Amino acid sequence: MSLAGSTPNRSAVELVDVTAGYWTADGFALRRFHPVLKGVSVTVRRGERVAIVGESGSGKTTLLRVVLGVLQPASGRVVVMGREIYRLPRRLRWTVTSRIGYVPQDPARSLNPRLKVRDIVMEPLERSDLTEREKMERVRDALRMVQLHESVLDYYPAQLSGGMMQRVLIARAVVHEPELLLLDEPTSALDVSIQAQVINLLNSIQRKLGCTMVVVTHDLPVAQYLADRAVLLHRGAVVEDVPFEELVRSPKSELAKLLIRSFSLVTSSANGR
Ligand SMILES: Nc1ncnc2c1ncn2[C@@H]1O[C@H](COP(=O)(O)OP(=O)(O)OP(=O)(O)O)[C@@H](O)[C@H]1O
Ligand SMILES: [Mg+2]
Repeated sequence: MSLAGSTPNRSAVELVDVTAGYWTADGFALRRFHPVLKGVSVTVRRGERVAIVGESGSGKTTLLRVVLGVLQPASGRVVVMGREIYRLPRRLRWTVTSRIGYVPQDPARSLNPRLKVRDIVMEPLERSDLTEREKMERVRDALRMVQLHESVLDYYPAQLSGGMMQRVLIARAVVHEPELLLLDEPTSALDVSIQAQVINLLNSIQRKLGCTMVVVTHDLPVAQYLADRAVLLHRGAVVEDVPFEELVRSPKSELAKLLIRSFSLVTSSANGR
């Protein structure tokens, strides 16, 4: 069955000349549109691992919100898994967005403090046809995937360490076996040793599910561990969209040169040079 707004293609995400931002009211109660993404075009093929890299405020989270179907652009086309989501009636958007897994930026603030881990992780299965028993089995599988012990099922967020919180969020994002996984700064709230564990975990989950992965980060090394291609955002515009080898070998934008210089500093000081 084909739904309205459907276009056949092999892309997981296609943004075409997207301008998106926020409306704010000034002192005279006049509403003004502040564009954040300005004419952004990006295509992510199915199964690809892509990093969106940019400084704070460049529009990375805004881009994910557009793909998630929660921030309608002022102009441009947004095609997710072959469907132009903002042309679908609102009540049908979930048919696309329920195939996405999402890890939001701030683990501590994203978890409802009143829910136990079992209910947090089960959330994406709410609309599914599974029985309660099957849902619980999926939750247990997801916990195993993120290497958390079953005993955390009865914990509340306040009882979790930062690393455990991030694993719970990842479990929630993959419990419904999404085709597209969106990760917003998945390691920036974690200390370095836990960062490496979470990176390995995400790569093994991506391989297991065979899903498309879009990771947002301001950290070039993290991007390189988690993705094959980098899309560099600067003040809401794409300034580079290339495989990592090419980015490192011949950076074209000032942002890429800057990031690579700071990255080299990190690696050389880590090597004791
Ligand atoms: N709900 C909102 N209302 C108004 N402005 C917003 C809103 N959310 C974000 N902005 C503004 O949009 C711009 C881009 O924000 P966004 O969160 O997309 O940046 P980011 O690249 O994710 O930054 P960071 O690395 O700090 O997370 C910022 O100037 C921000 O202040
Ligand atoms: Mg952000």
